[in-house]
Amino acid sequence: MEVQVLSTAPNIMNRPSAHPANSTKDSAPDTASYFSENAVSRQLYERASRVMPGGNTRHSIVLAPYPIFAASGSGCRVTDVEGDQRIDFLNNYTSLILGHADPQVTAAVQRRVALGTAFTMPTAEDVELAELLVERVPYVDQLRFCNSGSEAVMLAVKAARAFTGRHKIAKFEGAYHGLYDYVAVSEGPNCDEWGEPGAPRSVTEPGTPPSVAEDVVVLPWNRLETCRELIAAHRDELAAVIFDPMPLGIGMIAARPGFLEFLREETARYRILLIADEVLNFRLSYRGAAHAFGIQPDLGSFAKIIGGGFPVGAVGGARQVMSVFDHTGSLKVHHGGTFNANPVTVTAGLETMQQMTPDTYERLNGLGDYMSDRLRRMFRDRGLPAQVCGRGSLFLAHFTSGELVDFRSLRGFSRTNPVYGDLCHLMLQRGIILSPRGVFGCLSTPMTEIELDYFVDALDDSLGKLTF
Ligand SMILES: Cc1ncc(COP(=O)(O)O)c(C=O)c1O
Repeated sequence: MEVQVLSTAPNIMNRPSAHPANSTKDSAPDTASYFSENAVSRQLYERASRVMPGGNTRHSIVLAPYPIFAASGSGCRVTDVEGDQRIDFLNNYTSLILGHADPQVTAAVQRRVALGTAFTMPTAEDVELAELLVERVPYVDQLRFCNSGSEAVMLAVKAARAFTGRHKIAKFEGAYHGLYDYVAVSEGPNCDEWGEPGAPRSVTEPGTPPSVAEDVVVLPWNRLETCRELIAAHRDELAAVIFDPMPLGIGMIAARPGFLEFLREETARYRILLIADEVLNFRLSYRGAAHAFGIQPDLGSFAKIIGGGFPVGAVGGARQVMSVFDHTGSLKVHHGGTFNANPVTVTAGLETMQQMTPDTYERLNGLGDYMSDRLRRMFRDRGLPAQVCGRGSLFLAHFTSGELVDFRSLRGFSRTNPVYGDLCHLMLQRGIILSPRGVFGCLSTPMTEIELDYFVDALDDSLGKLTF
């Protein structure tokens, strides 16, 4: 694929704001563009590069030649430091289900901030958010808060080890579960590191002790018989199998019919705990992702939307397993954290989750169906071989007609393909925020069909500028 435009991009207009239904500004701002010599983002990036390696503080926001710095957000729109406005289809990597600066969340947070932001004591709000989540998620009897999805996953793995007295875990090749060493094994191995299809290698990155690889069994997504053999071979050492029912790192390729049920049965057979990583996919339904896929795991990790735009994480599950954190019992897993259940976070999370009623989920997921359908029709009309994965308010398109099964089947058009960076820039020029690592995006409740139509038309137009 070759890019025909881009070297000197035109001024990035706030085209969508000209849309009558969504206008927050009446006309396009007369601002310096992102690519101009004097762009504020360029200057900020130069300063950032002097004080932060790579000029950023999380790799997931890297954008060449430099990131667009945000100034503010409102609803489904973000205004950058040049004053240009775009529709946000990333929502801080899916964490803002109500969009930016929701008025009720903002008011609740402001009230809470004025009352103090952190105490060496619990608050009523953390009990309320825990009660709400326990009431909604069928397999969660109890939970504990932490500050990120990575911590939530780490705590779930530690709880499983403490509960079972075993030390290994199994995870799927290509799946992303955050920063904890053990789940970061083989999260995106190069093909020369893969190993045999029947025995995927455990690949660690520099900075991780090689011994970590020995304690992680890597499974191929959707390859039921291989998984059966690998789980059986390690059955006496495995504390847990961790899975994400729609793993972004594996292109959101749907689990084949029966695959998740097989995982549940096979783990139960050997008394291995099943951990659902719901950090990203919790937004799929009122009762969460595992419920949406009809699975009852033993433990789950949660984050993103439950913090209402603030740093958050939670681990939850069956009372018996969660008792490993109980100081009144025979405490096995120590769990500290200066900002766990921070009152501002849980206030924002509570207000957000209260707004996410079954009707709101239904409307948002309906918009997601509309989006997938429009994307499929656009690709077909273009004669472009493409498949749309994802579900509910999450979508991911792959430019291939090849069979999508597991991480290895994504070879050649994975997230590292540079074409996605070019496509991202073309979309930015059209007023859309999209991932530079694929046609991946998510919806937020302030959106309507108008924004989705605008997105699909902009993508159609952008694809026309790329030669395959
Ligand atoms: C499935 C999954 N698990 C864990 C994490 C880590 O969460 P956090 O970034 O809050 O540490 C992420 C983050 O995107 C995720 O998508």
